[in-house]
Amino acid sequence: AAVIGATVPTGFEQTAAEEVQEKLGSASRISRDRGKIYFAVPARSLPQVHRLRSVDNLFVVVEEFKDYQFKENKEDALKDLEGLVKKLPWTDPLKVWELNNSLKKKKTKRKKHNLQSPASKEKLNDGGEEGGADQNDTNDQEDCAQNIVGVASSQDTEKPQGVASQNGGEEEEEDNEQLNARDEVQASSGSSTKAGDGQTAEGEAKVLKFRVTCNRAGDKHSFTSNEAARDFGGAVQEHFQWKADMTNFDVEVLLNIHNNEVVVGIALTEESLHRRNITHFGPTTLRSTLAYGMLRLCDPQPTDIIVDPMCGTGAIPIEGAAEWPGCYHIAGDNNPQAVKRAANNICSLLRKNESKDSSTVQGVPLDIIQWDICNLPLRTGSVDIVVTDMPFGKRIGSKKKNWDLYPACLMEMGRICTPGTGRAVLLTQDKKCFAKALSRVGHIWRRAQTVWVNVGGLHAAVYLLRRTWERAEERRSFW
Ligand SMILES: C[S@@+](CC[C@H](N)C(=O)[O-])C[C@H]1O[C@@H](n2cnc3c(N)ncnc32)[C@H](O)[C@@H]1O
Repeated sequence: AAVIGATVPTGFEQTAAEEVQEKLGSASRISRDRGKIYFAVPARSLPQVHRLRSVDNLFVVVEEFKDYQFKENKEDALKDLEGLVKKLPWTDPLKVWELNNSLKKKKTKRKKHNLQSPASKEKLNDGGEEGGADQNDTNDQEDCAQNIVGVASSQDTEKPQGVASQNGGEEEEEDNEQLNARDEVQASSGSSTKAGDGQTAEGEAKVLKFRVTCNRAGDKHSFTSNEAARDFGGAVQEHFQWKADMTNFDVEVLLNIHNNEVVVGIALTEESLHRRNITHFGPTTLRSTLAYGMLRLCDPQPTDIIVDPMCGTGAIPIEGAAEWPGCYHIAGDNNPQAVKRAANNICSLLRKNESKDSSTVQGVPLDIIQWDICNLPLRTGSVDIVVTDMPFGKRIGSKKKNWDLYPACLMEMGRICTPGTGRAVLLTQDKKCFAKALSRVGHIWRRAQTVWVNVGGLHAAVYLLRRTWERAEERRSFW
């Protein structure tokens, strides 16, 4: 069995643990270092591990130290870390890494094939978009320094915090380039390569390339994450005779230090799995993993009607349609640009479904419409679930506007939801305004649960609300 570590959206550790239990039958340990879980699975279950919906990045654990005693003196502490390398049980984790590589190779081939299909070139006209950063790609662990050090070069390199996508179109191109670069890496480090001894099947010497990434959190360390990665990396190089390469590496060794907890691992994902659905990003695209967590929180049942009335690029309804195809999903936004992006993302999902089974044309149980949340074209009591990511008032709207928008939203959501059984899962960073708005509609919404999350470094909350039996105020029919 391999011990797998997974980074998950902060706050949704329990949801991820439940998913692991349900789909892999393994119990998880939730790390003290928030946003991580650990679970043991047989190596043959790796494909299912990659299909988990609530995990961002995966790694195989080499060794975990729950109470590592760091020396006070910097040099001694770093020397200890260096010395650790040759004592670690690398063999089995490296076998898991190799197996994972062979799986990825197959996946990459399939992906490339899809990209070549003429359908993948089709796009709705996206118009000139403003530049947009994927807010959620920024490092969630804001108090955690992240550095990657190439020991071959004396220069320490900082990993850019938060990869900003310029716009939807460019994002797509960037993905393709990464894919090509990855193909090359995998061609040279495919499953025939023995990681431990650096031999290919033909017996030629093949030197693997690696980098060390150190994530450090805690104020009691005498060293920086750069220094730890550099010295640990030096020892890895010496031990395996691998070559350090910051960008074109085969193996990424992880050194996670959180106070006295040290976990050494080997990365099994090259990019976060939250990028699975979205091809056209917007300024506030939500991670698919967080969208999954929000949807799971309201426990969708087959035939439920699920609405995201402020869908932006559609991260929530697209994840919903992919994972809960027995439900019907309706999405809308008042911004025509957002609706266009979401429509493009839905097209991408359609193509993905088509290529899975080219013999049948499968639809997607999802409609998108341009509307105003305060006046939805939906009948009173006709919706089971509302899941939405509300404007924080930073990138979209303003905190001032939220004082009017939030109470109006809650009223309208209350109107469309079925009394007694309806529920809403709402994400916002504007907690003060939300609390005030909720207090005004306490007769129709009852707060059942709050999950504290970190969205791109912002402390936000996800509220699970339950619809009371109280009849909502009827308003003039839309039609
Ligand atoms: C935080 S963003 C949602 C991001 C989305 N989850 C995604 O993945 O792209 C909030 C969205 O609310 C929309 N919005 C703001 N006011 C609205 C209104 N009155 N009616 C409908 N949508 C609105 C904005 O256009 C924006 O797309």
